[in-house]
Amino acid sequence: MINLRVMIVEDDGFLLKKIGKVLSREISHIYTFKNPIEAIKKVEEINPDIIISDINMPEMNGVDMYKELKKNNFDIPIILASAFSEPEYFIEAIKLKVKKFIVKPIDLEELVDELRQFEKELLNEKEILKQERMLMIQSKMAAMGEMLTNIAHQWRQPLNTISICTSNIKLEKEFGKIIDEDNTLDSMIENIMNSIHYMDTTLNDFQSYLKPNKLESCFYIKDTLEKIDKLIFSQMRTYKIEKIIDIEDFHLCNYQNELIQVLINIKKNAIEELSHQDKERLIKISTHKDDNGFVISIHDNAGGVPIELMEKIFEPYFTTKKESGTGIGLYMSRQIVENHLQGKLTVSNEEFVHNETIYYGAKFQIHLESLDEY
Ligand SMILES: Nc1ncnc2c1ncn2[C@@H]1O[C@H](COP(=O)(O)OP(=O)(O)OP(=O)(O)O)[C@@H](O)[C@H]1O
Ligand SMILES: [Mg+2]
Repeated sequence: MINLRVMIVEDDGFLLKKIGKVLSREISHIYTFKNPIEAIKKVEEINPDIIISDINMPEMNGVDMYKELKKNNFDIPIILASAFSEPEYFIEAIKLKVKKFIVKPIDLEELVDELRQFEKELLNEKEILKQERMLMIQSKMAAMGEMLTNIAHQWRQPLNTISICTSNIKLEKEFGKIIDEDNTLDSMIENIMNSIHYMDTTLNDFQSYLKPNKLESCFYIKDTLEKIDKLIFSQMRTYKIEKIIDIEDFHLCNYQNELIQVLINIKKNAIEELSHQDKERLIKISTHKDDNGFVISIHDNAGGVPIELMEKIFEPYFTTKKESGTGIGLYMSRQIVENHLQGKLTVSNEEFVHNETIYYGAKFQIHLESLDEY
């Protein structure tokens, strides 16, 4: 089956029926129109990949129809069918970059071959576009990584200074140069030192998360999930989200940073959806091994993804968040999971039980193979 949306415009009702019937055996979506004006009205709704149109029609000729579509910014390839007695349209049609002319009576077998070829071209174009977008995303991530390296570089020095000064205060106290009657200084110093340590490790974590892993490594899933917690814990706290964990720890060999990136995208989405609801906010993280490998699930109680959007949410630039979302999070995540991690990323709306209460929301699952473990 050729997977295309094809619109056919032909004023001869008998011929239109015949073409429609033959083509629908080979092509997934066929839309037939006797009147070009009706066809123009429906173009937006049907969103055809290609139009096949007669030239000579009483209401409007095929070339004028094509001009009208272009005027309304519909740049859809068109194949024009004409009898040889209509040369007056040819020059104009060539100027308009009509995809192809076919001569009537139409050889339907040839037309099907033509459409098969067109399907291939379209797939190639889509593939190239996808790769370009992916490259763009990667270069954006690389630029962010570089920026972060600069910030990290600038911050390490002052952090170091704070750390040295704090140690000095501690020493001064030990030598009795600082009087600390109620012994509050020690806990303050400890607090400062912990904060410094925290800032330092966060810098490291962010930096390595933005750097794509060049090599596979072997790691524990529990450690990985803990790293993610550190990276987004402030958002979890701000929105008062409770985390439920049900983790079976396992050792896997894959690209850890990429996995972290995907898990962060999914968790951030869950946080964003939960932030709009007043009732309890939960994110349940679970992992387990099954016959095919490892499964990591991120399940929230934000009500789920509307059924009609289930596949759409993985398309590039699809977002329901208006200005605040770009719609690349899940697209990029699926690309990474399928192309780098050799796994699968799926979504379903499901219930889960916590403290004897039933909750409902989107469940994202990453399935990874376990073959690589060594
Ligand atoms: N946990 C979820 N529950 C319900 N809907 C979700 C959930 N996660 C994602 N979605 C839907 O999927 C859409 C696409 O998500 P995606 O991460 O690709 O883009 P985004 O979050 O809108 O923008 P960004 O590029 O900033 O991530 C979201 O706009 C939202 O409508
Ligand atoms: Mg997102």
